[in-house]
Amino acid sequence: MTRLENVGLGLLVLAVAAFAAAEAWDLWRGVMSPLWVSRDAPAKAKALAPEERSLEELGALVLRSQGCLACHNLDLKGGVLAPSLDNVGVRRDAQWLREKLLEPHAKLPGTFMPAYDDLSEAELNALVAFLGALTPARRSPDNTGEAKIEIPTDEQGNPRFTPEQVERGKLLFQQQGCVGCHAINGLFPGGPVGPNLTREAQRKRTDEWQLQHLIDPVSVYVVGEPPEGAAWPMPGYGHLPPEDLKALVAFLQSLK
Ligand code: HEC
Ligand code: HEC
Repeated sequence: MTRLENVGLGLLVLAVAAFAAAEAWDLWRGVMSPLWVSRDAPAKAKALAPEERSLEELGALVLRSQGCLACHNLDLKGGVLAPSLDNVGVRRDAQWLREKLLEPHAKLPGTFMPAYDDLSEAELNALVAFLGALTPARRSPDNTGEAKIEIPTDEQGNPRFTPEQVERGKLLFQQQGCVGCHAINGLFPGGPVGPNLTREAQRKRTDEWQLQHLIDPVSVYVVGEPPEGAAWPMPGYGHLPPEDLKALVAFLQSLK
């Protein structure tokens, strides 16, 4: 190798390292921002000339830099405090999404979600476009490939549920009409109103969360008691006998 080539290679390695560090810093800021760091305008989204990126791509950058994934799940990654954004474009329209971002508490008093009323009009438009495009048509780890059922285990590797419970849960999933709103690839084609549940276990919900969410879905997303008559897109199943609720949890947690 000539000296010049060496210098070139060195520069390339440096550039790659700098890029990786910037990416890592960006992600770290994105994940931690709602907790510690003030939510400043997404520098990265601003740095990009609009003609270089589609509106949806810009929206994805806004989502990342605003730390939405500290609470929300998308592509099987993210936080556990908020609903998965998978298929959110099916259940919410652009007007609703915009209002939700500006004033989340107006839609649901007590919600964990902070207001994003300091976003610029361009950032808001891009974010709404990105969220609106989160439908089954989008290929993502959330909705590609077929379901693989595995009995969930505890930390010692002991099964948490029996195969009978998982089987019973699968039957109830069909009988109780969950299939009307949720798809599980290879098992239930299902309606796309709710998140695709093919790999539900990868969203890292605890058994307790799953049980409470089935009994009263809105209750896991608010501080304190859910407000009276809160409109929520998933019905509660608290009327089912405890062993059936447990079987549903077993089935959901077996979807690896
Ligand atoms: C501190 C946690 C938190 C952060 C950060 C957060 N959210 Fe939320 N979000 C929630 C919770 C909890 C809910 C469910 C309760 C509700 O509807 O308010 C929710 C609801 C939503 C909904 C409606 C979901 C549905 O299933 O219909 C959308 C859309 C949404 N958030 C988008 C965003 C976007 C985009 C961001 C970032 C700009 C964001 N959220 C940041 C907690 C959060
Ligand atoms: C009318 C449509 C509808 C029906 C019926 C329905 N769901 Fe849902 N489900 C939703 C929507 C919308 C969400 C997203 C909001 C939320 O997380 O509560 C959701 C969320 C979920 C989640 C959370 C996924 C995650 O980890 O973020 C699970 C698990 C779930 N549903 C299971 C079920 C089961 C089991 C049944 C039947 C007993 C059922 N659902 C019936 C609409 C529905």
